[in-house]
Amino acid sequence: MTAELISNTAVNNEIFRLEFVLNGPPPKAGQFYMIRPRRSSVLLGRPISAAGWKGGAVHFLIAKKGRGTEDLSLMRSGEAAELIGPRGNAWNDFFPASGDDKKIALIGGGIGLAPLEALLTEMPDTVFDFYAGFRGSFRDGAERCGILGPALSGCSSGKLIIATEDGSEGLKGRIPDFLDTKNYAVIFACGPEAMLKAVAERCKKTGTPCYVSMERRMACGVGACLGCTIKTTRGNKRCCADGPIFPAEEILFDE
Ligand SMILES: Cc1cc2nc3c(=O)[nH]c(=O)nc-3n(C[C@H](O)[C@H](O)[C@H](O)COP(=O)(O)OP(=O)(O)OC[C@H]3O[C@@H](n4cnc5c(N)ncnc54)[C@H](O)[C@@H]3O)c2cc1C
Ligand code: FES
Repeated sequence: MTAELISNTAVNNEIFRLEFVLNGPPPKAGQFYMIRPRRSSVLLGRPISAAGWKGGAVHFLIAKKGRGTEDLSLMRSGEAAELIGPRGNAWNDFFPASGDDKKIALIGGGIGLAPLEALLTEMPDTVFDFYAGFRGSFRDGAERCGILGPALSGCSSGKLIIATEDGSEGLKGRIPDFLDTKNYAVIFACGPEAMLKAVAERCKKTGTPCYVSMERRMACGVGACLGCTIKTTRGNKRCCADGPIFPAEEILFDE
């Protein structure tokens, strides 16, 4: 579908927030769209997770990496983009059976926080503990709010734990080190692969169910080109069509 850009807000030098008119059905938290500005130097859309939606609008938090995301960062209000989606599975597909009184932990690193925040918006009455990891400090309040919006505004009535590797904000260290996995019914994680691997290893030790949102470069985005293969204990899987969320214990991280 073609969607009109409502707003483009810089969170910092690298991260920006795009809000589009939502013409189709709303996404579910964890799902993504293939997005490409109508006027773009790249041929293919780039996969970006929905970070939240309200009324007739959907928004995304995007980090500038290469030409595709650079083109998105240059979009202006009123311009149009192709938004193909929502695609993929959703966190909700992996919720524990009702009756389990343990909490759910969400753990994200950097821009990987976006699809987890969508879950806070989608399920405001569910208590989540939210673990957010960053490399360095937040430079100002706008940056902090832009990245941790729903978590800071109290959508999550559980704990909010922030860690930075340099200790300049919150706890000092890597965020998986602060996660006590045995306290949780299930853990949902999104972020750099090294972080996902560390979370998966901790969960394995305590037998805690864990689901991770995986990233691969994508071309077709619909399961046809096999360009986004993930190696798992159940054979090769397509990140776009079989994921992007997978049981952590099935991912062969080092292959
Ligand atoms: C399901 C899914 C959801 C995503 N959600 C978000 C999101 O919400 N916000 C966001 O900012 N980004 C998200 N991404 C990542 C985003 O799609 C890539 O950063 C983007 O495609 C890069 O395109 P580009 O043209 O800017 O950079 P390119 O020129 O294609 O690449 C620039 C550099 O980034 C590397 N790279 C590109 N894509 C990936 C990738 N998928 N994994 C690892 N390295 C890569 C390249 O190797 C290269 O070094 C998501 C990816 C997936 C698969
Ligand atoms: S991007 Fe083509 S199969 Fe996933």
